[in-house]
Amino acid sequence: MKTLLNIVLAVVASISLVSCFNDKKPNYQYFPNMYEPVPYETYGEYGIFPNQQQAMTPPEHTVPRGYTPYDYENSTAGLELAKTELQSPYEVSEENLVVGSQLYTLYCAVCHGDKGDGKGILATREKFLGIPSFADPGRNIVLGGIYHVETYGLNAMGSYASQTSEKERWQIAMHVMDLKAALNGNPGMLELSNAGTPTDSTVVETNLAETNNASE
Ligand code: HEC
Repeated sequence: MKTLLNIVLAVVASISLVSCFNDKKPNYQYFPNMYEPVPYETYGEYGIFPNQQQAMTPPEHTVPRGYTPYDYENSTAGLELAKTELQSPYEVSEENLVVGSQLYTLYCAVCHGDKGDGKGILATREKFLGIPSFADPGRNIVLGGIYHVETYGLNAMGSYASQTSEKERWQIAMHVMDLKAALNGNPGMLELSNAGTPTDSTVVETNLAETNNASE
């Protein structure tokens, strides 16, 4: 009898607690600033903005943080220009080459092959045709051109601008230059940048020119 009374008491007590809760009104807030943001919320509605919308289109010519504009246009002329004058802002280093090699395996090897000979799995299975070898003399594969096609894509090859950062595209480009050198039996990027021999890669040439000037 006593237990029954206890149970009834417990039920009544919990019902009376729950029934005090009014979901139409917010609960008591002890430190409201911890819950209510002081600045405008990104997608909030506020009377002072057009359409009461806080999220507005950014002003013209706004660029996202960390974004570097790319000035070469997506055309054959743009690619040729990038091949002749575009240079990598990043130095050839072992770290850059290692990252480049990993990203190459991830994004490019399916078509271009691990060695860059154009015999990736999608090429041998004939899913994509016309995949060139990086050693193809008719193509004149150089850092600037690689960066350009990674950014825009080229015909059957898609753009990698959304999957990779600017730096990552340069790192991949360095690795592609290494693959090209290996296919041609030439020394790789790192060897060249250390040894001081001229190369077909513009960036190594500039780095060398800088070191030569510095040592004079
Ligand atoms: C879906 C298959 C595919 C993938 C994946 C792919 N490519 Fe290509 N790539 C091609 C094809 C096809 C061409 C030839 C395009 C043409 O000339 O019409 C090409 C051409 C190129 C060229 C030669 C550009 C020139 O100057 O002629 C380079 C360099 C290149 N790709 C680099 C890359 C890199 C780096 C990646 C990875 C980020 C990559 N590709 C991923 C298919 C692919």
